[in-house]
Amino acid sequence: MDLIKGSSPAIQHIKDMIRQVVDTDLNVLVCGESGTGKEVVARTLHALSSRKRRPFIKVNCAALPGELLESELFGHERGAFTGALTTKPGKFEVADTGTIFLDEIGDMPINLQAKLLQVLQDGGFSRVGGVQEISVNTWIIAATNHDLDSDVQKGTFREDLLYRIKLITIKIPPLRERREDIPALLAHFLNKYCGSLKRKDITIPDTLMKAFMAYDWPGNVRELENYARRLLVFGDPAAVEKELRERTTKNETPRFDIGSLLTETSDIQAILSRQLITEETEAFPSLKEIQKRCLAHIEKIVIEEVLRRTGGSRKETARVLQISYKALAYKIRDFGVNTSLLSAEGVSVALEEDR
Ligand SMILES: Nc1ncnc2c1ncn2[C@@H]1O[C@H](COP(=O)(O)OP(=O)(O)OP(=O)(O)O)[C@@H](O)[C@H]1O
Ligand SMILES: [Mg+2]
Repeated sequence: MDLIKGSSPAIQHIKDMIRQVVDTDLNVLVCGESGTGKEVVARTLHALSSRKRRPFIKVNCAALPGELLESELFGHERGAFTGALTTKPGKFEVADTGTIFLDEIGDMPINLQAKLLQVLQDGGFSRVGGVQEISVNTWIIAATNHDLDSDVQKGTFREDLLYRIKLITIKIPPLRERREDIPALLAHFLNKYCGSLKRKDITIPDTLMKAFMAYDWPGNVRELENYARRLLVFGDPAAVEKELRERTTKNETPRFDIGSLLTETSDIQAILSRQLITEETEAFPSLKEIQKRCLAHIEKIVIEEVLRRTGGSRKETARVLQISYKALAYKIRDFGVNTSLLSAEGVSVALEEDR
């Protein structure tokens, strides 16, 4: 579990799921954009399982053309095809009693998907050019950055295979949706590379930290890792800050989509049915009451998002949202905004004001 840094609710949920599925032998699908940490999750699952001393075999399903991938996964008999001079066991056999990590499973050719389905159903397969049925006890963890449901619609992914592999799905959100993990990840990478990159110590100025929090991280954790390395090699926080700010401004308008925030957490429905129906006064709540609650709910979501992007600064958040500091403080209190998002500075300012 130590491999997975961060303590956002999303990461905590992922860690809980990992604890629950380890040693159930149920196949696991790990989904997430590129660089979100799918391999880290797969390796952690293996490391925590009783298979940890057995092999962890990774196969990148996007890296090989169909026939080669088939023989890579399932092995081949001597003479099965030109160039098959010897019998070779496949990765499923090598991973017997261990774990096989099928990376980029969304790129597996459709005819091979049928063979994989067979393995998932009864654990058996035969080598390319072979007749003998081979049985293995291999834990299958798959990963993808595709939306497999839409691949099924497009006809590039088998629906029956999807149902088999998606039973346990660990979804890793992009870094921009869990910005509170950025400081811990950055500290981790600086610490990890400071030895090998010779620079022992680097201070991250507050303004750079803010730029890190505001940036959208299209390359996710891997991109953050690369920036940490760069900072250690060149020791150039000012240049990094400038670069991040330029990229942030470029992306700002299209990225800040309130609609997507609402569907992510689409609990407007819940708010309306749960809280309003229990109104004691009338069977129908007043429209005014509905407006008030919906608005409060939307405002809370937006405030939390801006707090994430500003590293928890109330001052910045008030400025971005164009309301007074005091109005923001009331909203934070009244709407039940997640206070763990507030920076330490923000909290102390608030306490002073409350006195
Ligand atoms: N939560 C995390 N804690 C620590 N390191 C992480 C975390 N998430 C990702 N990393 C690091 O970020 C880099 C990218 O992670 P990983 O290779 O697991 O991503 P991925 O989702 O498999 O990416 P891709 O889709 O490009 O294969 C790795 O160096 C990994 O160690
Ligand atoms: Mg990967």
